[in-house]
Amino acid sequence: QAQSERESLLIALGFARDFFVKNLNTPEGKSIGLSYFKERGFSPAIIEKFDLGFALDGWDNLLNAAKKAGFSEEILLKAGLVLQKEGDPSRIYDRFRNRAIFTIHNISGKPIAFGARILTKDKNQPKYINSPETPVYHKSDVLYGMFQAKKAIRDLDNCYLVEGYTDVVSMHLSGIENVVASSGTSLTEGQIKLIKRFTDQVTVLYDGDAAGIKASLRGIDLLLEGGLNVKAVVFPEGEDPDSYSRKVGTEAFQTYLKEQSKDFIGFKIGLFKGEFSRDPIRKAEVIREVILSIGKIPDPIVRSVYAKEAGVLLDVDEEIIHAELNKSLLKSQ
Ligand code: GTP
Ligand code: MN
Ligand code: MN
Ligand code: MN
Ligand code: MN
Repeated sequence: QAQSERESLLIALGFARDFFVKNLNTPEGKSIGLSYFKERGFSPAIIEKFDLGFALDGWDNLLNAAKKAGFSEEILLKAGLVLQKEGDPSRIYDRFRNRAIFTIHNISGKPIAFGARILTKDKNQPKYINSPETPVYHKSDVLYGMFQAKKAIRDLDNCYLVEGYTDVVSMHLSGIENVVASSGTSLTEGQIKLIKRFTDQVTVLYDGDAAGIKASLRGIDLLLEGGLNVKAVVFPEGEDPDSYSRKVGTEAFQTYLKEQSKDFIGFKIGLFKGEFSRDPIRKAEVIREVILSIGKIPDPIVRSVYAKEAGVLLDVDEEIIHAELNKSLLKSQ
């Protein structure tokens, strides 16, 4: 019976997953790959749960093994596992070499792509190399960790959204399983739709740096536009969920999430660290910022609830907020 191209690609990607996972048990994989994960505090159980693996050093380890197993070069190329040599496309080589492997699964747990982290501090190479778009991997419709998270997201009716692969893995180690990663790119409509299949509440946990805060602000507005209920937590400068949970420990980390979760209004006010109360210009800025976000909310009832909250928290007349909201709603029509 003829296989569809999709099926062939999924089989090849499953083979690659098995190959990367088994590599962790080779002498090289143990001393380099496994010890890297151990240093990060990843347990054998978590390594297995996430199909973490290792790409051996060399140009054709996966290529040769896959060809021996009967996979065509064409399928390996289409799956994003190998690359054509520049100037000589008849020669192909492994995309992932000498890197720690994070397997990216589809919603039913099948491997569809990989993220590969460099093991050294070499600044001349990208920290992560990821699979390209393929017929089975549409980045903008995928969130890392959704397969492992979906049940917990539904049960807890909340989804933590983080930036990185390691944040997802670390949070599972801290006993928090309702977590997915946008993998460093800005959130898309497809990813928001995916979350909405399981919950309508998202808590954004982006990195505590300028880039993370900027991405949080953008993400919050997109999530609000998508009709989701949004909270956010700010981490101390330089920390992300992975580094911070290891720094303070599981219990303190969980407490931090509970105590620091703020709705988007509280989040935006928090960014101005109280200085707005003394400076009318700054205060006007925060008010405008908050109104912009409220204006994204599609449901007029929810919108008016937040307008009321904003009036109280910012100590401005609710009428002024409604007037501004109406202005911006008119503009966007
Ligand atoms: P660690 O440094 O291993 O803790 O990873 P991190 O997840 O904290 O990395 P960072 O905060 O720098 O980036 C967040 C996410 O963006 C990563 O998990 C990747 O998905 C993605 N990313 C980071 N660096 C690169 C890169 O060089 N290339 C690509 N394509 N993606 C990257
Ligand atoms: Mn709900
Ligand atoms: Mn970052
Ligand atoms: Mn990070
Ligand atoms: Mn990190």
